[in-house]
Amino acid sequence: MVLELLDPTKIPKHIAIIMDGNGRWAKKQGLMRVRGHEKGAKAIRQTVEVCGELGVENITLYAFSTENWNRPKLEVDTLMKLLVSSLKKELSTLQENNVSLKAIGRLDLLPEKAQKELSEVIELTKDNGKMNLTLALSYGSREELISVVKSVSSQVKEGTLDIDQIDTDVISKHLYTSYMPDVDLLIRTSGEQRISNFLLWQIAYAELYFTKVLWPDFRKEHLVEAIHNYQDRERRFGKTSEQL
Ligand code: IPE
Ligand code: IPE
Ligand code: MG
Repeated sequence: MVLELLDPTKIPKHIAIIMDGNGRWAKKQGLMRVRGHEKGAKAIRQTVEVCGELGVENITLYAFSTENWNRPKLEVDTLMKLLVSSLKKELSTLQENNVSLKAIGRLDLLPEKAQKELSEVIELTKDNGKMNLTLALSYGSREELISVVKSVSSQVKEGTLDIDQIDTDVISKHLYTSYMPDVDLLIRTSGEQRISNFLLWQIAYAELYFTKVLWPDFRKEHLVEAIHNYQDRERRFGKTSEQL
């Protein structure tokens, strides 16, 4: 499947990816897990480039979950270091491609160095208008929803919001992802078919695509295949086929 065969009128506005399988990729080659993460970080660039070419406006990448803090310390430390070095390395590519970097999650839990590097790159790329590349870091959807409940209820308590005004728009505006539309296409690599606490609200009507390809092996052709598969589906949003 080549890029040119995709329907340019049906490009997803928001693609979210659960980048899974780094550890298994490394194990298969007889390498340490951290090598898999290094290779996985490199695989991100092609995905961003293809999305740029196609005009996908939002990509959200699940890079580290709240639950991933429970991994061995060495692995967590390496992932945090990798985050800092990748950010440094990729800044120029983000600028050249007019990509704005964003991050969602409990960023306050990240090591200080990672927080600093992250906020620098976010600040430097904030006016880039072609695409939002959002990293979900120390992210958990349940935690995000708890933060929404807290901020909405404090507005109610202060009297700036009436209980009857709470609707889907209000909730969406309080989410970490308030600057983006809901997810159109959710991709998970590595063969696992679960959501693992990722964007539970935002994927309410997303098309789900699972592939056995391990994240470090994920290339342009796999992404194009996923989008092609997405374009073949009928998104009914509860209506009948005839109503569309
Ligand atoms: C995904 O790969 C990356 C992170 C969760 C940080 P994994 O590290 O989960 O790889 P597997 O699932 O063990 O193969
Ligand atoms: C989900 O992958 C989180 C990321 C890809 C960052 P995990 O490998 O942590 O998920 P589970 O444990 O298989 O559900
Ligand atoms: Mg995994």
